[in-house]
Amino acid sequence: MTAGTCRLAVPLIGVFVSPGSLRSLLQQAPGGDFQALCGGGSGDDPLLYFFSLDDVDFDRQQIRGAYYHREKGSWKRGSFPFPGVVYFRNDAPPQRAEAFRCLLDHLNRRQAQAVNYFFGLNKWEVHRLLEGDPFLRGHLPATVCCRRDGALLESMLDRYGAVYLKACLGSRGRQVVKVLRSSDRLYEFSHCQGGLKRGRVRREQLAREVRHFFQDREYIIQQAVELMTFDGGPVDLRAEVQRNGRGELELVGIPVRVGHKQAPITTHARSFPFEDFFGAALHFEPAFLERLREEIVCLVQRIYCLIESRYGPCGELGIDLALDKDRRLWFIECNSRSARVSLAKAYGQDALHRSFLNALAYARHLSRMGSGLEF
Ligand SMILES: Nc1ncnc2c1ncn2[C@@H]1O[C@H](COP(=O)(O)OP(=O)(O)O)[C@@H](O)[C@H]1O
Ligand SMILES: [Mg+2]
Repeated sequence: MTAGTCRLAVPLIGVFVSPGSLRSLLQQAPGGDFQALCGGGSGDDPLLYFFSLDDVDFDRQQIRGAYYHREKGSWKRGSFPFPGVVYFRNDAPPQRAEAFRCLLDHLNRRQAQAVNYFFGLNKWEVHRLLEGDPFLRGHLPATVCCRRDGALLESMLDRYGAVYLKACLGSRGRQVVKVLRSSDRLYEFSHCQGGLKRGRVRREQLAREVRHFFQDREYIIQQAVELMTFDGGPVDLRAEVQRNGRGELELVGIPVRVGHKQAPITTHARSFPFEDFFGAALHFEPAFLERLREEIVCLVQRIYCLIESRYGPCGELGIDLALDKDRRLWFIECNSRSARVSLAKAYGQDALHRSFLNALAYARHLSRMGSGLEF
């Protein structure tokens, strides 16, 4: 298969992944989720290919990616023109920022479209955006932004007793520290960088720990919501929201995540379907559960539309929410590229496939509509 002036009636979709993910595809590692994306292509005429930054040849204006050969049932290398629609599954490594920018410029010049955002959402910016909406304001934990400002941490602890410190640009719980005041002079902190770490320290040492943890990165300090717990672990929710092939919003699932005992975060822990967890396990009354679901739908729709009004149209968002001990609903954060680990754990492979098929259908919708995000 060669690149060239080939024009396809249907959009050529490029799935941007890390070099490691591409390697494992070509080693034919089991990748049920990826294969679900390949529904439309067959044989030597694929609709869709995968590529990483390593595979882009800017001089020749082609990409040597990987595609799924359905007759052979295996992944092959192939050369492709630049895609008409791109689906970003992984981040570009920070040390390759320049090459990534170059790729985006190429895509822009070709008026390519994007299924989802190629950038992570800044937690502080998103907080400021949502705060402007009177309905959403009531669901936001109090938040301030800072860089190396010890006084702000003190005043937030005075007011709330426990807070979360989170890098503005972080994900998967790697840049999150929980701090609480355990007595007049002692503070407890915990984070999950390199396994669960906990400590009890005096104020000066806490300031040093925080500086060491965030270095020069900007971070927010946020009121800790008193999360519901289950089996001693914190509980929160991930609403997986997508636009479907008609461009309408769909709530694909609401996995409930239960973190490890004593852990400050729920990331990559156990997950359960919303209805099973609150209905069968916690015995919430059906009427309350129904109302809660409606409240979640209303909240995530509003968040989704506000995010789009600021950053442009997008095909999917993973929205983290939490219920506190009084069953009040809170917004925690918004993810532009969900790995959908919790969705798969809670709702199984079928839901995962459905979500990938939604992404594909939205890609086709975008190319029909001829409008989308600028790179
Ligand atoms: N304000 C908060 N109150 C209670 N728990 C929180 C708060 N902020 C974050 N968490 C917990 O930490 C986890 C990770 O924080 P999050 O903001 O989602 O950052 P990340 O981008 O790393 O996923 C959340 O899923 C939740 O379990
Ligand atoms: Mg999160």
